[in-house]
Amino acid sequence: MTTDLLKPLIAADMAEVDRVLRDSLDSDVALIRQVAEHIIGGGGKRLRPALLLLSARACGYAGTRHHTLAAVVEMIHTATLLHDDVVDESKLRRGHATANTTFGNSASVLVGDFLYSRAFQQMVAQGSLRVLEILSSATNVIAQGEVLQLINSGDPNLDEDAYLGVIRRKTAKLFEAAAQLGAVAGNAPPEVEAALGRYGMHLGTAFQLVDDVLDYSGDLDAIGKNLGDDLAEGKMTLPLIRARTVGSAEESALIRSAITGGRLTEFAPVVSVLRRTGALDYTRSRAERESVAAAECVAGLPDTPYRKSLLELASFASQRTF
Ligand code: IPE
Ligand code: IPE
Ligand code: MG
Ligand code: MG
Repeated sequence: MTTDLLKPLIAADMAEVDRVLRDSLDSDVALIRQVAEHIIGGGGKRLRPALLLLSARACGYAGTRHHTLAAVVEMIHTATLLHDDVVDESKLRRGHATANTTFGNSASVLVGDFLYSRAFQQMVAQGSLRVLEILSSATNVIAQGEVLQLINSGDPNLDEDAYLGVIRRKTAKLFEAAAQLGAVAGNAPPEVEAALGRYGMHLGTAFQLVDDVLDYSGDLDAIGKNLGDDLAEGKMTLPLIRARTVGSAEESALIRSAITGGRLTEFAPVVSVLRRTGALDYTRSRAERESVAAAECVAGLPDTPYRKSLLELASFASQRTF
């Protein structure tokens, strides 16, 4: 686990975040507790809260307010996963049946709404307009990203720029917000807050690029999700865009028909084309570029173990296999 990598540094903080997270799930409606526990108890890398904690500590923060903020960010992430698995019709998440498989689509959507609104209650309790500003914008942008992706699904002509526009919104925006909120907690000057925000944006972009590689080439046990979900949903991710661009006419036609047909049966031939055209390696290198850009954004921070961990996280995002 990533957080194992960072354990000595933020283990105590992460334990506190988990406590806040669990306390936040309290409701006298049993189904809410069941669904929330199903997904939150299922594990996950807890990358976004870790990022927030590290960012705050890298800015010299010594208090405890960042625990709630980190839990809020994980709650928002969890809400997007509940909704995303319904939209993507995914069956496996964190090595377990998805909430939509176990409890149904309606329960997943509604408990996702519960988590979103509980996150906002916690934010308001913080009494900081700046925090609300950052997180309300982030959740709004994420929703726009997911809708954009929906519009683009089944479109074999999507280009790299349009794809990047989607992943920056749906995924990188929350990483940006997490890193920025750490700076806000640490009372960092505006230029440091902005630099950490850019760090999060690059990191999150690398993270999603690799997620899209793993959807074709990951190890199911390591990623805890089924392979092939993107193809089945007709998502034109960068591996496919690259293969369509550099492949032979025949390979390009195969990619196009797999996306317009959205049929899982075409998974194996598509993977062969991705491998032959080097499209997966290309996507990984594109992610590495984002990791390098992320590292550059934190170069100016004081040299502390926290900054070092932020650098490690940046390379983890593009090298990861889970
Ligand atoms: C999954 O995020 C959704 C994406 C943005 C790819 P994570 O890979 O961080 O999921 P968990 O929290 O570790 O399960
Ligand atoms: C991430 O995209 C979606 C969110 C930001 C919630 P994916 O659809 O690729 O994420 P996974 O693969 O289901 O985790
Ligand atoms: Mg999905
Ligand atoms: Mg994915």
